[in-house]
Amino acid sequence: MRQRLLAPSILSADFGRLAEEVRAVERAGADWIHVDVMDGHFVPNITIGPDVVKAVRKATALTVDVHLMITDPDRYLEAFVAAGADWLGVHVEACRHLHRTVQRIRELGAKASVAVNPATPLCLVDPILEHVDMVLLMTVNPGFGGQKFIGSVVSKIRQLRRWIDDRSLKVLIQVDGGVNVDTVDILVECGVDVFVAGSAVFQGSDYHRTVGALKERLYPRDKNLEGGGLSKKPALR
Ligand code: DX5
Ligand code: ZN
Repeated sequence: MRQRLLAPSILSADFGRLAEEVRAVERAGADWIHVDVMDGHFVPNITIGPDVVKAVRKATALTVDVHLMITDPDRYLEAFVAAGADWLGVHVEACRHLHRTVQRIRELGAKASVAVNPATPLCLVDPILEHVDMVLLMTVNPGFGGQKFIGSVVSKIRQLRRWIDDRSLKVLIQVDGGVNVDTVDILVECGVDVFVAGSAVFQGSDYHRTVGALKERLYPRDKNLEGGGLSKKPALR
């Protein structure tokens, strides 16, 4: 069994208390911090830039995963890596020369991820699969938190899992959008590695409860274990 990671998206956090919010989800058991960068052009919303990533970096020891929903991401790769992004994700729909872009992200010292919108065919990432560290399959149309999970993406997740396994690649599968206690089980079953969750984590004030409820489902109880104990957490592949 592979390791499964929960990455709360700060998009649904209280931006007025951002550092505190990041520390609170870290204490609650989050694995990564997911940061959504939007430019009002590639997506209809505008969020944050490298300075805020720098502040997040300062607030946490966790892996900082930056999801760029911007047109012409090449112009900003260096700034986001310098700000502290451990992982940098670009949208396949926003890159003219995708291979060059992911190569540049790796040269800068970050892990490279490629994001795919719900209506974009998976075949667009097929030629790049050997050259990336993660593929992010969007399960909502990017732009806003709190949207409804698009179930038709599930077949794309299964297909991607098969490609990765058949080629024995170490590429992670990440999902983003509408991940909550009702949708997470099917995603676990499909072989997702990294689960981004915004509103499901930051709703209410008890992050131990919301993070705990999701993380518990990432490791379903193994019925074969005596006493019904939790399955042993494996090492990352
Ligand atoms: C949407 C962002 C997501 C967003 C998810 O464009 O990429 O990371 O925060 O929010 P939820 O989990 O509320 O759907
Ligand atoms: Zn995101």
